[in-house]
Amino acid sequence: MAVETDLWDTYAASAFKEDAEPVFCWTQYAGHGPGPEVLGGPRSVLEVGCGTGRALAYLAQRGVVARGVDLSPVMVKQTTAKWAATGAEFICGEVLEYLRDHGETYDAVYSIFGAAWFTDPGRLFPLVHQRLCSRGVFAFSQPPAIPGAYGPQGMYKGGFAGRAMPSGRSQKPEPPPEGTAEVTSLLPDSLAESLLADARRDGIEKYVVGALITDEDGRVLLLRRRAEDFLGGLWELPSGGAKAGERLVDALCREVLEETGLTVSGVTGYVGSFDYASRSGRRTRQFTFAVNVTGGAAGAITLSEHDESAWADPHDLPAVSDETRALLGG
Ligand SMILES: C[S@@+](CC[C@H](N)C(=O)[O-])C[C@H]1O[C@@H](n2cnc3c(N)ncnc32)[C@H](O)[C@@H]1O
Repeated sequence: MAVETDLWDTYAASAFKEDAEPVFCWTQYAGHGPGPEVLGGPRSVLEVGCGTGRALAYLAQRGVVARGVDLSPVMVKQTTAKWAATGAEFICGEVLEYLRDHGETYDAVYSIFGAAWFTDPGRLFPLVHQRLCSRGVFAFSQPPAIPGAYGPQGMYKGGFAGRAMPSGRSQKPEPPPEGTAEVTSLLPDSLAESLLADARRDGIEKYVVGALITDEDGRVLLLRRRAEDFLGGLWELPSGGAKAGERLVDALCREVLEETGLTVSGVTGYVGSFDYASRSGRRTRQFTFAVNVTGGAAGAITLSEHDESAWADPHDLPAVSDETRALLGG
């Protein structure tokens, strides 16, 4: 637990911004998705893993009795100093211990990439249930699960597409088989096989892999197709066709390296797929995976097939295909 507390104290030092305003947002993108109405108009709330405290301050300013519990003493000291005047209350503690030891009940309990993500759901959920008023709401948001981590999840060093770091109490991913690259273990063969089996069943003739590489601000790396190329001028994710018999993970690493000069160090999740007709008219499916690259977003990009690269806000994209826009949620 001391290790985790240290980790969160380190997070606090970078995440807490003195000039931040109260805001209630379920995702890392401002104005994205639903708001506090998900909580059902509560009179009292408990945020578990309340971090920077902005959501609690937002609710407290609107008359909600707002309490948060967070593991980090550094964060709790800062949030108390900054937001106490709104009426929000911040308590330093481990969520399971806090819920077990304190009998107050709430109209809503929630977590925004907070303690619901970092705690064993088998232990957390029954405790939350005990602390909810009748017809109370438990709501939480979180990124995709870290492959190989079951139950409590972990952090991503350098943002959601950064290196996955299972937390101290998480089940660590299985070590890769001898002689297998680490990146392979992060795109399980079973997932690749099931994606390919679905594609075969759907009559797909060509497989393309795409890489979602994100910087610390959640911006996505896009490459612009040369004007004279098929779909010239369009921006796209680093991507390309898998060769006959080539594993998706190998195609992914090869394409990212060829198109950007960046080395994939891990695959952190499957983002989704879309279908289109290739230049030769073949039914094509692009499978997109979130990946980490060595050196992160600071790594030098060397283009080989495209004429420009850019880090783009997923909600303010340049000219991309409708499929890419939908995939990125823009
Ligand atoms: C990724 S941060 C996000 C928090 C918040 N939504 C924000 O905007 O800052 C996760 C927070 O959960 C807290 N946390 C993690 N595990 C916890 C636990 N077991 N009990 C209480 N807080 C925990 C951490 O200290 C951290 O502040």
